[in-house]
Amino acid sequence: MTLAQPSQSSAPGANPTGASASSERFARDDWASAFRNVGVELSDVPLQPVRGSLPADLVGTLYRNGPGRLERGGHWVHHPFDGDGMITALRFEAGGLSLTNRFVRTEGWLAEEQAGKPLYRGVFGSQKPGGLLANAFDVRLKNIANTHVVKLGDQLLALWEASSPHALDPDTLDTRGLSLLDGVLRPGEAFSAHPRFDPGHHGTERMVTFGVKSGPRSTIRLMEFAVADDPASGVKAGQLLSERSDRFGGFAFLHDFAITPNWAVFLQNAIAFNPLPFVLGQKGAAQCLASKPGGQAQFWLIPRDGGAYAGQPPRIVPAPEGFVFHHLNAWEITEAGPDGFGGRVEGPALVVESIFYADFPSIGPDTDFRTIDFDLIPEGLLERCTIDLTSGTLRTERLSERCCEFAMVNPRREGLFSRYGWMAVAERETGNDPLQAIKKLDLISGERTVWSAAPRGFVSEPVMVPRPTPAGGPEPAEDDGWVLCLVWNGARCASDLVILDAASLAELAVVELPLAIPYGLHGSWVPAGPSDAQPSATHQAG
Ligand code: CO
Repeated sequence: MTLAQPSQSSAPGANPTGASASSERFARDDWASAFRNVGVELSDVPLQPVRGSLPADLVGTLYRNGPGRLERGGHWVHHPFDGDGMITALRFEAGGLSLTNRFVRTEGWLAEEQAGKPLYRGVFGSQKPGGLLANAFDVRLKNIANTHVVKLGDQLLALWEASSPHALDPDTLDTRGLSLLDGVLRPGEAFSAHPRFDPGHHGTERMVTFGVKSGPRSTIRLMEFAVADDPASGVKAGQLLSERSDRFGGFAFLHDFAITPNWAVFLQNAIAFNPLPFVLGQKGAAQCLASKPGGQAQFWLIPRDGGAYAGQPPRIVPAPEGFVFHHLNAWEITEAGPDGFGGRVEGPALVVESIFYADFPSIGPDTDFRTIDFDLIPEGLLERCTIDLTSGTLRTERLSERCCEFAMVNPRREGLFSRYGWMAVAERETGNDPLQAIKKLDLISGERTVWSAAPRGFVSEPVMVPRPTPAGGPEPAEDDGWVLCLVWNGARCASDLVILDAASLAELAVVELPLAIPYGLHGSWVPAGPSDAQPSATHQAG
């Protein structure tokens, strides 16, 4: 892989849009070579960079989750999202780096290892062998634990939004089993794969998350957990601090959400679910989702415990057209006046920054995911919605024309106005393509800084790690820290860990992993500390 130096581009649209066919824009064989099984589980393998050096004050663990098994007994998944969850831990200690990886020992993974063939259907359309007869009326879900991994208390949680988390040992990655979080969850209860870590808006750090029970009416259960032990109050890390449940009209498809000090922000896409083809064995459950013609997307705003609106009913605000999986951040404007971006608000306002798709990118039952035409799928575009809570009106602006996914702010700024966002982007300036570069976007000036892995490299979610605050010293600048990213190296047919300077996106180190990891989903950084119950510990969600 050619690792280019970061390129500074300032004017939007400075580069040609590239009207070439997707076959000329990127090396499809290199891109598709990432779709494979992870064939080995490694323990504490020491690693050294092939270029650059490890930052001395980067100490902690990067956990990544994603599908690690895409084929069994010659039967391929229909979509990579149906692959079994495999956790990678990259542990940075004084002067060294080591790697451990483990499949999550889910009930389905264990049974299929024994059987040597798929025994379950997948949500994204994977079928059991044997055609319609074998698949019809089998509506069991296989909890594949493949979407995100976060640390809560002394547990590492492998998350999959339709069911309970799996608890793992944070050091060995051994699976302890399904976790109901000390009785907080009922068996099989939905538990989002997108927790948000409140850095301390209400005193102490919290993990805020939710579960959705969908139907003709849908219920959101919002939960807030302590992240650290608090000897003064006796609260233990991982303990549920507060919860509320709210019912909304209509079928809810909610993958992600955003938080501010006062609000939990949900965007309910205008989407319909027709379960019949799923029940009949023709489609996976997620393939039965479709845009609802004439439907109206809505923001569902739920007041958080401890905030200014605590205990009040939710507010519902019409949302722009389009489809959203992921949010970058949300924050509040507290009083009437200019919103700072060319508009005005009449009173308190809520600003939500999200990645919008023109339509729900559905995956047809006859499509081979390795041959998809990127030109036929809408790209993700970052937009800012300013919701005036007094007038109930909304203003939307596009923040970038470049295809992006997997965006985050400095986790210390989660829920507050943040000047910078880091995200995975396509190599060209407009249009849909695989993610091959990392972008830092200045959300005030629009200035962009890009590090690219093109032509033979393909990026996954970048994780921004803030530089630790020195004892007694001032908090480092918002963009002071590192960006960690696993890159699929098409030349090597294996994965690289790339460490960038968060401010300049200069490449600090490249580590060639002795592993070939398919494109992953989400992950998090857990800083090392004298104790994991350290109140200043910083977690981050992808
Ligand atoms: Co996600």
